[in-house]
Formats: sequence, structure tokens, C-alpha cells
Amino acid sequence: MCAIIIPEKHMHYPVLLKEIISIISPQYGGTFIDCTFGQGGHSSKILEFSNTKIIALDRDKDTLKKSLDIKRNFENRFIYKNLKFSQLNNLKLKNENVKAVLFDLGYSYIQIKDKKKGLSFDSKGELNMKMGLNDFSASDVINRLSQKELEEIFKFFGEERENKKIAFRIVQERKEKVINTEHLVRIIQSTKKIKNYKIHSATKVFQALRIFVNKEISELIYGLINATKVLKKDGIIAVVSFHSIEDKIVKYFFKTLSETKSISRYMPKVDSKKNLLKVIVKKPILPSAREIKENPSSRSAKLRYAVKKQDFYDFETDILDKFKYLIDIENYSKKI
Ligand SMILES: C[S@@+](CC[C@H](N)C(=O)[O-])C[C@H]1O[C@@H](n2cnc3c(N)ncnc32)[C@H](O)[C@@H]1O
Repeated sequence: MCAIIIPEKHMHYPVLLKEIISIISPQYGGTFIDCTFGQGGHSSKILEFSNTKIIALDRDKDTLKKSLDIKRNFENRFIYKNLKFSQLNNLKLKNENVKAVLFDLGYSYIQIKDKKKGLSFDSKGELNMKMGLNDFSASDVINRLSQKELEEIFKFFGEERENKKIAFRIVQERKEKVINTEHLVRIIQSTKKIKNYKIHSATKVFQALRIFVNKEISELIYGLINATKVLKKDGIIAVVSFHSIEDKIVKYFFKTLSETKSISRYMPKVDSKKNLLKVIVKKPILPSAREIKENPSSRSAKLRYAVKKQDFYDFETDILDKFKYLIDIENYSKKI
């Protein structure tokens, strides 16, 4: 067993590291796909085990520098691609023995601290929130979509109860001038009646905008579908989510594919009584009290994982239908 390195305060901290390592078992070697490379915390730990290989993806090209540091030490065992994980199936993986696919969703400490990305409410200037490989920014959303569309984005992606009032004020105020980050925070603070002193009043709207700008719903859904396709039999999909919408999607995907009915009826050779995935632990794995103390932003993390039990790639899932109402909202971006 390997020791966990506890980083200094304010450094990037790979969430649920010990738990993930014990689930994906890199000590037996194989190829691991890290869909959310970030600062390489999980990838680096896996590479400490000989006979492992990492294929790392990240949509944020600012993660390239860190990838080059790792590449120097693990020339033949590390591949990095600036790619969205929804496109995982475009990797040429013919002879790879993919043992696990890891998703550590959301954003990193480095990204939230990067004022240019505008992910936090103390950012200044033009609204942004693009994590990388985006088609539009939060400024386009706030300044161009209709009141109704903004309401729904805030309601469904942020669970913001005061979505209507906030959307109304935005539409009024943008008649005067383009709304930037400080202006949006002021609008939210002065509009909201319900005060929650534990979280910043702009948290929910900012979450909603980040999800919308980065199309995080369809990214996750296609990421899960494609991860299931590239995995080998007995391989593991492990997902760390940070908010209830993500967790709901992951839970539904794992649950329905571990029920008999989800196996493709178009694949006659496959014994339809078997399930594609196996969920070993039904409840999500949460960070320990010690981890939350070291890294408070891990407090909302939930880890779920499933094992692929069939070595075939074609399967049916109704996940796109199930979450169509969210994808329809994401598609408001077509009007930008
Ligand atoms: C929480 S951080 C991952 C941290 C990483 N596990 C580590 O230990 O350093 C999430 C990373 O995923 C990336 N990301 C988010 N959505 C993505 C997507 N759809 N495709 C590829 N990368 C994504 C972000 O840019 C960010 O760097």
C-alpha cells in the first residue's frame, strides 16, 4: 500500500485519492484514462505504480504545462491530450487494456483562482467561465439570452429559487450597458431576499452559468457512455461529482446499466440476462473528516464507481431521454 501525500494548504489536493487508488488497483498495472487531468494529482499517483500507463485528457490548455512536467519523468507511460472527455471515443485505443476511466468533475483550485477564467465571484471584468474548448462565454449568456431562458438556466442548473427575479433584473439592467462580473454579483446580491449566510449569494447562479457555458450535462452523459465503450471487461468507471445534478446522472447511468433490461436487444450473441455494469457499493463514498479538514472544498465530493461485466461495446441506455429536459436547456446556446 502506498502512503498518501498530504499537500500544503492552498495547494491543489487530489480529492478522495486513497479511496480511488484502492478501487482502481493500479498495483496490477494496465492503462488508466484520467478524463480530468487538472494538476495531475490522480495521474501522478497512478504512475507511481510500475506497469501503469496514463492517458490524460483535459479541456483546459493551461494544464499542458503540468502534463509536460509529468511527461519528462514518464516518457513512455504518459500521454496527454487537450480534449473534452465527451470525445473519449475518438482516441485510438485499439490495443489498450483500459483498466479504469476516472472522472474528477468540476474545476481545480488553480482554475478557480485564475481571475481571467472568471469562475469565482471575486473575478473582475467581462464574464467568462470558459474552461477550454468552448463556443461561447458567460457574457454571451447573460447579455443575449431571453429572460425565460435565463430563469430556466438558473433554476435547473443552479437550483436557484429566486431565478425569476434575478433574470428579470438582468434583462432590465442590460438595456443600459453590457453586464460584467461585478455587475452580475451586485444584481444577485441586491435582488435575493432569501439569505443564506453559509454560502455567497451568487454561488447558485455562478454554478448554473458554469454548467451552461461548459455544457457539463452533455459532457458528462457522453463521457459516461464513451467510457463504458472503451473499458475492457472488469474495468472500472469511477466518478467524483460535486453537485446533485451530476450525482443524479451518474447514479442513474450506473443503476440502469446494472439492471437486466439495459442490454442491447440488437446484439443477439449476448446473453441478455447479464448486466453490462455491476455496482459494488450502492451509496456514494464520501471524503473522511480528515480530508475535509485538510481540503474543505472536498466536502461536497461523492465518489461512485461501477465495474464493466461484459466485453462488448454496443449497448442501449435511455440516459439521453431521461435528462432531455436538461439537454434542451443546454441547447438554448444555439441561439447565441
Ligand atoms: C477537479 S479538476 C481535476 C483535478 C485532478 N484530478 C487532479 O488531481 O489534479 C477537474 C479538471 O477537469 C477538467 N474538465 C472539466 N470538464 C472537462 C471535460 N468535459 N473534458 C475534459 N476536461 C474537463 C477541468 O478543466 C479541470 O482541469
